[in-house]
Amino acid sequence: MKNSGESASRPVILFCGKGGVGKTTLSAITIQLLCGRGDRRILAVDADPAMGLALTLGITPECSLDDVLSDEDSLRGGRDEVSASLDYEISRCIKESGNVSFIALGRPEAQGCFCAVNHLLKKAIEKLSLAFDAVVIDAEAGVEQINRRVFDAVSHLFVVTDPTKKGVMVADTILSLSRRTIRSDYCALILNRLKAGDGISLDTAAGFDSWCRIPEDSGIRFFDLHGGEPLLLTRTSAAARLVSYLGDLKLI
Ligand SMILES: Nc1ncnc2c1ncn2[C@@H]1O[C@H](COP(=O)(O)OP(=O)(O)OP(=O)(O)O)[C@@H](O)[C@H]1O
Ligand SMILES: [Mg+2]
Repeated sequence: MKNSGESASRPVILFCGKGGVGKTTLSAITIQLLCGRGDRRILAVDADPAMGLALTLGITPECSLDDVLSDEDSLRGGRDEVSASLDYEISRCIKESGNVSFIALGRPEAQGCFCAVNHLLKKAIEKLSLAFDAVVIDAEAGVEQINRRVFDAVSHLFVVTDPTKKGVMVADTILSLSRRTIRSDYCALILNRLKAGDGISLDTAAGFDSWCRIPEDSGIRFFDLHGGEPLLLTRTSAAARLVSYLGDLKLI
C-alpha cells in the first residue's frame, strides 16, 4: 500500500463520485467515526447544494455560504468578486454540534452564481482547515467541482462508486481529472453497496492507491426509512468495514 497520506499535517478527506453512490452516507459515517476519538475537532463541509450531509448529521445551519453571498449582493449590487472582508461572514456560517463544526455551500438560486459560491467555498476550506484536526468534505455529484478546482489540496481523495459500469466510469474520470486539478496525497476507490456475487475485478481499481469494499447494508436502509441519531450509522456493517479501512490508513 502506498504511503497512506498520513504525512499531511491534518487529514482533509474529500468524498466524490457519481450521483447517488453513497458519498453523503460515507462522509457522515466517517465524521462520526472521527468524532469517536473525542479529542479531535472536525470540520464537516457540505459542498453539495442538495445539503444531504446536513440532513444526515441532523444539523441545521442558520446560514450557508450562498446566503453570505446574497447578503453581499444586496450591499454591493453584484457577486462577481468575493470581498476580502468575508472572514466574519464565513465564521457566521459555522454551526457547532459537539466536536463537529459544520459549514454548507447552500443552494444558489441566482443565475450564474455557482462560480462565486464555489470560489468562496474554496477560500473557506483553505482558511478554516488550519483550525481543525480533520476535515471531511462531501462533494457535489459528478465532475464539475473537481474540474473547476474547487478543492485545491486534500490528503485523501475518496472516489466513491457503486458496482455499476456508469459509477466506475465516473470514478475513473474523476481520477484522471484530479491528477491535474487537485493536489492529493492519496487516492482511493471506495466500492460501495456491493452484493454477494457482484464479481468486481481488481482492474476496477487500477490507478488508485488502494480500494475499499463496502457491502449493501440493511441498517443504512433502515436509517433511510426511519431516520434517527447519526451515531446509528456507525453500528452498521458498512461502518465496520470503513472502520477497518480508515484504521489501515491511520485516519482513526
Ligand atoms: N452501503 C449501503 N448500503 C445500503 N444503502 C446505502 C449504502 N450506501 C448508501 N446507501 C443508500 O443509497 C442512497 C444514496 O446514498 P447517498 O445519499 O449517501 O449518496 P450520494 O452519493 O451522496 O447521493 P447524491 O449524489 O444524490 O448526493 C441513500 O438512500 C443511502 O441510504
Ligand atoms: Mg449526497
